[in-house]
Amino acid sequence: MDTIAIIDFGSQYAQLIARRVREFQVYCELFPWDTPAEKVMALRPKGFILSGGPASVYETDAPQAASYLLESGLPILGICYGMQALTLALGGQVAASAKREFGLAEIETTLVNPLMPTGTRKVWMSHGDRIEQLPDGFTVLAHSSHSPVAAMGDVNKKYYGLQFHPEVRHTPHGEEILRRFVVEICHAKPEWTPESIIQQSIERIQKQVGEQTVLSAISGGVDSAVATALVQRAIGDQLTAIFVDTGMLRQGEAAQVKSVLQQSLGVELVVVDAIDTFLQALRGVNEPEEKRRIIGELFIRTFEKHARQLGHPNFLVQGTIYPDVVESSAPDRAKAHRIKTHHNVGGLPSDLNFKLVEPLRYLFKDEVRLVGEALGLPASLVWRQPFPGPGLAVRCLGEITPERLQRLRGADAIFTEELTAAGLLRMQHCEENPTGTAQAFAVLLPVHSVGVMGDQRTYQECVALRAVTTEDFMTADWARLPHDLLARTASRIVNEVAGVNRVVYDITSKPPATIEWE
Ligand code: XMP
Repeated sequence: MDTIAIIDFGSQYAQLIARRVREFQVYCELFPWDTPAEKVMALRPKGFILSGGPASVYETDAPQAASYLLESGLPILGICYGMQALTLALGGQVAASAKREFGLAEIETTLVNPLMPTGTRKVWMSHGDRIEQLPDGFTVLAHSSHSPVAAMGDVNKKYYGLQFHPEVRHTPHGEEILRRFVVEICHAKPEWTPESIIQQSIERIQKQVGEQTVLSAISGGVDSAVATALVQRAIGDQLTAIFVDTGMLRQGEAAQVKSVLQQSLGVELVVVDAIDTFLQALRGVNEPEEKRRIIGELFIRTFEKHARQLGHPNFLVQGTIYPDVVESSAPDRAKAHRIKTHHNVGGLPSDLNFKLVEPLRYLFKDEVRLVGEALGLPASLVWRQPFPGPGLAVRCLGEITPERLQRLRGADAIFTEELTAAGLLRMQHCEENPTGTAQAFAVLLPVHSVGVMGDQRTYQECVALRAVTTEDFMTADWARLPHDLLARTASRIVNEVAGVNRVVYDITSKPPATIEWE
């Protein structure tokens, strides 16, 4: 299969480059810049993309473009820092700009060339250094008022450099530039399709597992469902899945998970009804972190017990996806951004002594969803919005009781129904529908307030509605939902959900608030 290797110099956009390349159905992998040549070349790439990065090429110990990249004779596209590192490696010169260039800029491409269309276009710049002297063989392809060299190329060697970021949406023709590089300059064929991913995964799983037995923990989320479905395709009845029903899922979810896995996919599924055990353990607990801890621990104990009853299979399916893999090995960029560690239901400790099967290890979230669809999972499961591991427990503020969970489920279902009917729930990859809400849910507050229904005074609980728009869930804005939709939702909730007499809408952004309330 044709591939592209992305050399990561620590750019915050490195994963975005990889996602763009995958959108052309070309497989690519990210490698930290100092990865040994043999490891990168084992991918048999058709070309290299050198990412941006926070360093300056003249700093001591600054990351460099390794010599094997040039010796390979393959096409290279350097982006921002990647362009500067390439320039230096080829004998050109880089200098600090008097002025940093950050944000939107306009470039003019005058020379007809294979990489970018001619004309004047907006691009996203973010750099301090600039090219002072081109390496031999290069010509300027584009310039801006601040950057005499906004793009450069050596058409014969197929080496190109961009001072701006083609991978971000703020560079509207960036996708076309990347496509030309990958498809027309590197001649990489579009072979990375859901079908080929499934085929490859099946072969890999069969080879890894052989005749041995495999266990999977179903959480109700997308990743564990798709991972389980893939393993099922590969090894059939050597797989057993355990679904621990904690009672913390939304309306209809537990039933959906069971019917999809058991009936549609034929997975051997052990359903553990642990609702009472979880409710018992959570009785009287109000503190959010304590709720998370209890749920996490009890989940592991329940899972362990049933795994033992199944004779402790050899392998465990884990739904690790590519961003997790990249973030744990990347130059320490991404790790710094994590704000809160999550105690997840389904996150199992390593001392359970299983060997791991990780069929989603090289997939981005969008690819996981596409593979899920190709495996026959329903769109309503595959395109679900993110849902916290501890589930409704962290949306039912205060004590968790069956009655309060019931109230929360009812209110949440009404909100979801209204948003879906209005087409405002984002069911697809965020950038396809940037105005839709990325996450929307109800929260039950441990607050009683006075109301009036008919001639009666009431003293009942309050529901908060939360809906946000976001690209990455690190920052978020509250969704400007239409007033008539909010009015309809509020009126339905107080009329249809017993015990609730007031509905409020959360209008805080993140930061300072978080998306969840606990
Ligand atoms: P916050 O509330 O931190 O949420 O703004 C950011 C995103 O993470 C989800 N979230 C969780 N996910 N386990 C999870 O798997 C958790 O404990 C947890 N807490 C928050 C949240 O739904 C949002 O998408």
